[in-house]
Amino acid sequence: MTTRRLVLSRGAAFVGAASTGLLLPQIARSQSNKIRVGFMLPYTGTFAQLGVAIENGVRMAIAEKGGKLGGREIEWFKVDDESEPSKGVENANRLVQRDKVDVLIGTVHSGVQMGIQRVARESGVLNIIPNAGVHAATRGLCAPNVFRTSFSNSQPTRALGKPMMDKGLKRTVWITWKYAAGDEAFEGFKESYTAAGGTIVKELGLPFPNVEFQALLTEIASLRPDAVACFFAGGGAAKFIRDYAAAGLKDRIPLWGSGFLTEGVLDAAGPAAEGIMTTMHYADSLDTPRNKQFRTAYATQFKMQPDVYSVQGYDSGLLLAQGLAAVKGDMGNKPALYKALETQVIDSPRGKWSMSKSHNPVQDIYLRRVENKDNKVIGIAAKALADSGAGCRMA
Ligand code: PHB
Repeated sequence: MTTRRLVLSRGAAFVGAASTGLLLPQIARSQSNKIRVGFMLPYTGTFAQLGVAIENGVRMAIAEKGGKLGGREIEWFKVDDESEPSKGVENANRLVQRDKVDVLIGTVHSGVQMGIQRVARESGVLNIIPNAGVHAATRGLCAPNVFRTSFSNSQPTRALGKPMMDKGLKRTVWITWKYAAGDEAFEGFKESYTAAGGTIVKELGLPFPNVEFQALLTEIASLRPDAVACFFAGGGAAKFIRDYAAAGLKDRIPLWGSGFLTEGVLDAAGPAAEGIMTTMHYADSLDTPRNKQFRTAYATQFKMQPDVYSVQGYDSGLLLAQGLAAVKGDMGNKPALYKALETQVIDSPRGKWSMSKSHNPVQDIYLRRVENKDNKVIGIAAKALADSGAGCRMA
């Protein structure tokens, strides 16, 4: 009886508060007026360092713009997605439903992005993709509230085939992790390499994130191709590079790849990485004041060298800061917000880029060679390359 009365009287008090507009939690929230920004990134596993680099980049860009978004202070949230696709929806909902974020920044892994994509499309929450290249995100499942600041999976490798053929490498074995990122990187490679007259001798693969490369390296040795081309990234890439050299292949069969192979791993891979040729939308040694200023500031702040993931994070921060400044922090007027984000030109360390209609960067792809632990620019492999955006219909 006592309990019931207590409940009733509390209920009455609650109704009273509501009718006089005194719902305290709501008042506290609207008064604070903070923008809630959630990171959904891998902080453990083979892509852990990618998640850290992205978060560093985002925070650095926003700090440089005064530490606010459209004049509003920021409240940060964080979820480790472990690069685990089966938990993608659940983890995205932690940020969207539980933490009620206004912006979800994530993620790295294409399979996990498919979970975020679903939650973003259903909830309408603003999603900035700072890495995951899965085609569907800016093609068949594109959405007005989803913007990618990185690349589509076939974008870097669409610039890979021609420079290989220019070097007379006519027969190539392809090797990758078998999931969307590897399969779609292969699409770009196949298209560009066969168009230039090359022959793909064999496609090899292993499940993500396995690093048992030995049997596949033995097979490569027996196939004796002119070159090997691949997609690997993060900790697994460092191991692939070392195992490739240890198997005695480094000086016999040149190793090429999309540039993720040599991003953030050059210390871990050591001399085994020297000479690897890749195509990518960034290079450490880009000789521009913008890149130099970025690299010095990042190294000073985080006591480590930036890589393409730091740049993609940084550009995500710039996009948010510029877009929200344009609408003065008002995220309520969605058409105005999306228009502002769509029309920004990002003055990136990689070079200036803009959004395609399907919300993917239109950008230059560089040809690079690892020299003295540095991704050195050899030239531009593709100018202002856009993803096709095939099948994208903005709702
Ligand atoms: C992806 O899964 O989309 C992915 C992951 C790591 C990379 C690039 C793409 O470096």
